[in-house]
Amino acid sequence: MSSSEIQIKEMVANKWDLASETFDTHAGHGIQSQKEIDAWKHAFLKVFPEKGLKILDVGCGTGELSLLFAEMGHKVTGIDISRQMLNTAKSKAEARGADITFGEGDAENPPFDTSSFDIVFSRHLLWTLPNPKTAVENWKRVLRKNGKVVIIDGVWDSGTLESRVRRSAGDFLTLLIERKNPKKGHAGYSDELKARLPHAGGVPLEKVKEYLSSTGFEKIQVFDLKEVRAAQKENMPLGERIVRSYQYYLICGRK
Ligand SMILES: C[S@@+](CC[C@H](N)C(=O)[O-])C[C@H]1O[C@@H](n2cnc3c(N)ncnc32)[C@H](O)[C@@H]1O
Repeated sequence: MSSSEIQIKEMVANKWDLASETFDTHAGHGIQSQKEIDAWKHAFLKVFPEKGLKILDVGCGTGELSLLFAEMGHKVTGIDISRQMLNTAKSKAEARGADITFGEGDAENPPFDTSSFDIVFSRHLLWTLPNPKTAVENWKRVLRKNGKVVIIDGVWDSGTLESRVRRSAGDFLTLLIERKNPKKGHAGYSDELKARLPHAGGVPLEKVKEYLSSTGFEKIQVFDLKEVRAAQKENMPLGERIVRSYQYYLICGRK
């Protein structure tokens, strides 16, 4: 890894260390209701109905979905570059008696042998990687034959005027009506950091499809996660609920 890449990853890790305390309070991050738990389980059962799978959650953060996978009967390993996010994940797993292995590791090159996992999962990670294509290639390496890569991401800021206006209007409404900090639970990257990431505003679905197919993944499928979004929206700040709209998807492919 070049010194410039190390520097980017340190900046990213620092941001998430700081955000770790409030991360789960945001309705798009921490699971807020039984309805949302049910919606997530329903979505994942469509993608991998088998039980007892070995799942690697790359960029697992506070382990919100690692915990859900463990509850669904899978054997979960989570890696992240933020110590504070991992500390939160470990405390939550301990409190719930969940047997999950959490450790520090770079999602772009997970420190595991070839063919170690049935599923490599990432949510809200690809957008913050300096080398997303390399990451996808290495996810394929650690997957066993017929294993699946499962990616959840979206485009929060497409860079258009409409997307910027919607975002600012949503933040303003949340601040004005609910007196809540609209940035709570987010990392808030600087312009300098954003400029060093290829997809700082989110990764378009077509781009992820391209990463998967050029890496040799087959049977690529896309799911819209409407049920999950509807459940999350019930607990989102008003501004975000009524003003914001963006592309959000789950995409998977088979090795
Ligand atoms: C938006 S959070 C998502 C956390 C979790 N996946 C979730 O959906 O709740 C992004 C996470 O990716 C982690 N991250 C960013 N770059 C990483 C890298 N190169 N390797 C491992 N983790 C990384 C951050 O530390 C942070 O915890």
